[in-house]
Amino acid sequence: MDIKLRVWRQAGPADKGRMVTYEVKDISPDASFLEMLDVLNERLILAGDEPIAFDHDCREGICGMCGMMINGVAHGPLKATTTCQLHMRHFSDGDTIDVEPWRAAAFPVVRDLVVDRSAFDSIIQAGGYITAPTGAAPDAHATPVPKVDADAAFEAATCIGCGACVAACPNGSAMLFTAAKVGHLGLLPQGQPERDSRVLGMVAAQDEAGFGGCTNAGECTTVCPKGIPLTLIGRLNSDYRRASTGRRR
Ligand code: SF4
Ligand code: FES
Repeated sequence: MDIKLRVWRQAGPADKGRMVTYEVKDISPDASFLEMLDVLNERLILAGDEPIAFDHDCREGICGMCGMMINGVAHGPLKATTTCQLHMRHFSDGDTIDVEPWRAAAFPVVRDLVVDRSAFDSIIQAGGYITAPTGAAPDAHATPVPKVDADAAFEAATCIGCGACVAACPNGSAMLFTAAKVGHLGLLPQGQPERDSRVLGMVAAQDEAGFGGCTNAGECTTVCPKGIPLTLIGRLNSDYRRASTGRRR
């Protein structure tokens, strides 16, 4: 395949940045989007140019490191798919493809397609954990969990923290991410003792980090590679109301 790539190049946080066009020839349709960028980078390095910086790690859709806007869509055109799992066969020979970093106030650009997502860490630090005595692992059946709760908690726990939901949201809101983390722990018995402080702390942390508010646009769940549902935001709102009014469950 021969494609034309228009890529956001930005030398650093203070640089204005600009789109740069590259003709990328002879790419296998079976290459992943990141492998296509690897090939381009090798060619850039051989030509003495700066390679394009982008985040990646597992390349298996599980670590949450990769992510970029591809033709204006977070993670590209394929539903429920991370950038690393997207393959060039989903594009056509001769296509022009625009590639940009996540655009959100809370995710400043570090370089090219790399953004600083440490704002997510501050949300996790504010409550994305349980406090439990350490020691030997308890027996698996020591704390019974209804199957329906276990399944719902597992679904919430599949959030990989990629940030696509924030990038797609017109408000730059982190609500889907926070709702996944609050929901994951709040659905399990082990998460109950800190359920109220967790939701209050994590919502305050996302506001402090500069994420926008949720107005139910629903763009987040559309691009989420793990299909985290909007119902978890409803659950977060319910938990938040209870916690902030001090009502008992
Ligand atoms: S909710 Fe989905 S889009 Fe948002 S960080 Fe988690 S996996 Fe990524
Ligand atoms: S590189 Fe790990 S999810 Fe894409």
